[in-house]
Amino acid sequence: MLERTSRPLRGLSNGIAGAMDAIYGALGAPGKFLQDFLNGSWLGHSLHAVLVDVVVGGSTAALLLDILRVFFGIDGLETATTWVLGLAALSALGAIVTGLTDYKDTAPDSEERDVASLHGLINIVATIGFAISFFQRLADAHDAAFWVLLVSYLVVSVGAYIGGHVVFKYGYMVNHNAFNKGKRAKDFTPVIAVTEVPEETPTKVMFGSTAVMLVRRADVVYALKETCSHAAGPLSEGELKGDTITCPWHFSTFRLVDGGVVHGPAGSRQPSYRTRVSEGMIELQGPHD
Ligand code: FES
Repeated sequence: MLERTSRPLRGLSNGIAGAMDAIYGALGAPGKFLQDFLNGSWLGHSLHAVLVDVVVGGSTAALLLDILRVFFGIDGLETATTWVLGLAALSALGAIVTGLTDYKDTAPDSEERDVASLHGLINIVATIGFAISFFQRLADAHDAAFWVLLVSYLVVSVGAYIGGHVVFKYGYMVNHNAFNKGKRAKDFTPVIAVTEVPEETPTKVMFGSTAVMLVRRADVVYALKETCSHAAGPLSEGELKGDTITCPWHFSTFRLVDGGVVHGPAGSRQPSYRTRVSEGMIELQGPHD
């Protein structure tokens, strides 16, 4: 149902995602660092989710204080309510910016992007409501502000529900390797002859049923799980730059040596393997994540 409801937003969705891409592209290297910060690559998971907790928690607390004041006649709560709501509104602004940054890397013309758009638009409306209610309080119009907050809270609840749908149905901004860690080997296990892996060329090999990307430099071999932790892009088709590999889909960059995230949107490190060359074969042990 959410998919059907959000389908008409597709043109708008693609336009917004394209505009976000263009803005970050125009900002160049600083834009990349800003994007990393807003994606939460430094945090290990989405920064958007952290801010959303503050929005929902803050607006719930503000509404509860308002209910105590309006329906139970408890005095002296106005100042606390105003500033708790102010914090929630500010966090909601941050949630919009971080959300748009995550959102630009959803697949074009996908249901995931459609539903994420609906989630975002509803929460933008709620944020405007929170801001209005906050400024009404600054103007001492606390009773009118209560009703605006109540409506905005109902709106943000719908938006939050749809946000949950995006994450739990589509795996939006979750580690794509979390539920498919692949083959695990305690001992070094041969996978391919060293002569079959050209030097300085990301090469996909199979380790049991798990695809692994190898990069060989003479007898030193680096091995990372092939599927990118962000959205399962193929790392062996990525760009090798120094000691890193960049995913071809949304340009997350990982250290070859341990799969650590250098640039997002990925927030989770890429599973990596220990390697050695023995009797002409490349052997893997792991993964380690
Ligand atoms: S799949 Fe998105 S950066 Fe790799």
